[in-house]
Amino acid sequence: MRVSQPATVVDVHLRAAEAAAALRADVRSGLTASPKTLPPKWFYDDRGSALFEEITRLDEYYPTRCERQILDVHGDDIAAATNADTLVELGSGTSEKTRLLLDALQRRGTLARFVPFDVSERTLRDAAEAIRVEYPGIAVHAVVGDFERHLGALPRGGRRCIAFLGGTVGNLLPDQRARFLAAIATGLGPADSFLLGVDLVKDVDRLERAYDDRAGVTAAFNRNVLHVINRELGADFEPDRFDHVARFDPDAEWIEMRLRATMPMTVRIAEVGLEVAFATGEELRTEVSAKFRRAGLTDELTAAGLELRGWWTDPAGDFAVSLSGPAGRP
Ligand code: SAH
Ligand code: TRP
Repeated sequence: MRVSQPATVVDVHLRAAEAAAALRADVRSGLTASPKTLPPKWFYDDRGSALFEEITRLDEYYPTRCERQILDVHGDDIAAATNADTLVELGSGTSEKTRLLLDALQRRGTLARFVPFDVSERTLRDAAEAIRVEYPGIAVHAVVGDFERHLGALPRGGRRCIAFLGGTVGNLLPDQRARFLAAIATGLGPADSFLLGVDLVKDVDRLERAYDDRAGVTAAFNRNVLHVINRELGADFEPDRFDHVARFDPDAEWIEMRLRATMPMTVRIAEVGLEVAFATGEELRTEVSAKFRRAGLTDELTAAGLELRGWWTDPAGDFAVSLSGPAGRP
């Protein structure tokens, strides 16, 4: 007997033309600012997503392993605390670790739907299709969008658990993060929950090595944003003329990723009509990756209208997964 499976539904809230316009605006404002900056979402074209996958398998990059261990050991606790029928995943990428949550919710008997959400359309479609095949009993509804702009496009109804893994929340700057958490809180129904993975403050050497591996994969990932701008906006960056820099800032408690010009350069960005000069040693900030403490994160969640309901770490205390929900529910 052949059993037909429903196809994956894919909602596209960020079309190529719109993404290109957003990239142009970010490049214009970021490369004319002082110091120069670029937002990290543009790392993740097909090559960037593949390089990130490679990062997650590096010896030095502990966060993925730690978070996977937490989801493996505590998946059933998380499933029991959420009773979710819908698992939403923001910045889902390949949804590799997420299978541990899907399995736990299936054991619990509540799982009916999976909603992966990412800016990277190809990676998202591939991941959604793989999960549809592996989990024939559930509906898969993928959403292409920017989690800073399109949270309102998430499907509603049921008991949703919104997961945001990988420490990606740390890639938002503090004001962006506050707005993002407030938008999450506003969108949660009374029975919904928010599962957030965060990297924790630790030894500076380990932190810096996680973002500056010996094999140079993170360096290639960092430079990839320049290849993206060359291709999408007709720019003439020479990525090899920039050094990869990853430094922990002890005051902000974040890793800062930068690209440092190794010689004076003038870069033309044709589609923005911009010429940008770099002095030798000048740095372009491409990303921050904030590291958290339980007390500080609890305060941020509270300020956003969320209350902490669960907190799990790996045995070494390197990484944490928190569960929160709308404040004030009995
Ligand atoms: N959750 C995965 C992937 C983390 S990498 C893990 O834990 O390993 C960050 C992911 O977030 C990438 O897949 C990237 O495409 C996506 N992303 C980055 N900025 C985004 C944004 N503004 N909106 C939606 N997705 C974003
Ligand atoms: N969310 C990941 C993190 O902050 C993203 C990441 C890992 C990353 N390594 C990177 C981003 C290197 C830029 C460069 O850990």
